[in-house]
Formats: sequence, C-alpha cells, structure tokens
Amino acid sequence: MEKIVILTGAGISAESGLGTFRDEGELWAQHRIEDVATPEGFARNPALVHRFYNARRVQAAKAQPNAAHQALARLQKDWPGEVIIVTQNVDGLHEAGGARHVIHMHGTLAGALCGACEHRWTSPPEMKVREPCPACHQPSARPDVVWFGEMPYFMDEIFDHLAGAALFASIGTSGQVYPAAGFVQQAQAVGARTVELNLEPSAGASEFDETYLGPASEAVPRWVDAVLAKAGSR
Ligand code: APR
Repeated sequence: MEKIVILTGAGISAESGLGTFRDEGELWAQHRIEDVATPEGFARNPALVHRFYNARRVQAAKAQPNAAHQALARLQKDWPGEVIIVTQNVDGLHEAGGARHVIHMHGTLAGALCGACEHRWTSPPEMKVREPCPACHQPSARPDVVWFGEMPYFMDEIFDHLAGAALFASIGTSGQVYPAAGFVQQAQAVGARTVELNLEPSAGASEFDETYLGPASEAVPRWVDAVLAKAGSR
C-alpha cells in the first residue's frame, strides 16, 4: 500500500498554546535565535540557554495535543500503508496525541545530550549549567535539540522514506529552514503527490500540487478524512 510521509512544524502545535518561531511567540520574541538556538550562544551563555529550554520544557509538558495531532495519529492507525511523521518540533505532542513512528529531526525537549561524549538520557525538568553526564561525568549536559548550524538527525532514514513516498504532506511549517524545506522537491522527484496545509502560504507554497489554508486543528482532520475516504473507496 502507498506510503505517506508527513513533515510537521511549529504551526501544528500553535493551537496547543505553543508559540511558533516566526510569530510573536512569547519565548522566542524575548530572545535572539543566535543567543538561544546556536552552539555559539550556548558556549557564550549556557545559563541563558538552559533557562530558555527549561521554560520551553515546562510549557510543552503542560500543553495538550490538539485535533491536528490526533488526526495524524488516526491516519497512522487507519491507513493501510505506512505513515511516517517527521517533525521539526521538539514538544512531544505527536506522541501525546497517540502517534507512533515519529522521527524527531530536531531532537526533543525530553532529551539530554552530552556535548562531550554524545551520550543521551532523559532530561530532568530543569537542566542546570555544568550538569554532569551520567556516562562520562563531564559537566557537558545540553538539551538534545538541534540548533542552527547543526546537522538535523535521521537524515538518511528520512531521505529513504521520501524515496518511497506516494504522498507527501507538509503541515504548519514556514518552509524557511533547510533541509526540511527541500523535502517537497525530494518527494516530487520520485513522483509523489505533494500537499501543503498551513495557515498562510509558506515560502515554498508554489512547489506543492495542492495547498489547503486554515488553522491546523480544522484543516488537518478534514484532510485526513479525505485521504482515508479515498483509501476506503479503492
Ligand atoms: N495552523 C496551521 N499553521 C499555522 C498555525 C495554525 N494554527 N499557526 C501558525 N501556522 C503556520 C505559520 O503561518 C508558519 O508558516 O506555521 C508556520 C510556522 O513557521 P515557523 O514558526 O517558521 O516554524 P517551523 O517552520 O517549524 O520552523 C522550522 O526553525 O526555528 C527553527 O528549529 C526551529 O524547527 C524549527 C525550524
């Protein structure tokens, strides 16, 4: 059965109360990306970066998945083929909404990473400056999130999935950050149908075969119903 690959971004979690990066999201508006989301920013001021991610972790832990997350989980359950969710989000709301097989290309707030030996473990709710790694004991703990200038995770696996996709959907992402912004071309190169669901046309809107504009909590369930109805009518 046909494989569906879905890319999600901050827009899918906006209605769960988590600000997107390029809107007036409270936390992001108060900081410069260079200060809180780059390795250089962390080296300069780890206390600021930990405060920022500790606040995001608290916010994400309180947030509830919305109808869009739940609809994608339903698609994974009911679609007769494989449905791969690739997310740029670090909030964990896809899993909270019941999804399985989620690829976290930008890491997750729930994770801690040792900057010295790359050991990974579950982050405490509050990460402290110079927190020791449980494996190598270096004081090098950092959030397990991918910052600007770093390589996203699982790229080989994602490109393998895109190479086998019959349908590619991009949901709630502004299409400004590569490599994710280039997935639509990868999918098109193998003949997949491409669909964008977003509040407004993204930077790459003209690349897609179809575009549905509207809030994710409405547009995504409607789209999932349509996809499943087509599968049922075959
Ligand atoms: N429903 C659907 N889309 C929405 C909604 C909503 N309720 N609210 C906002 N959007 C759309 C916006 O119109 C915008 O196009 O979601 C998109 C969010 O874009 P960004 O804030 O740029 O988020 P994203 O594309 O996920 O950012 C990519 O950049 O900052 C880095 O690493 C970070 O993973 C992030 C990456």
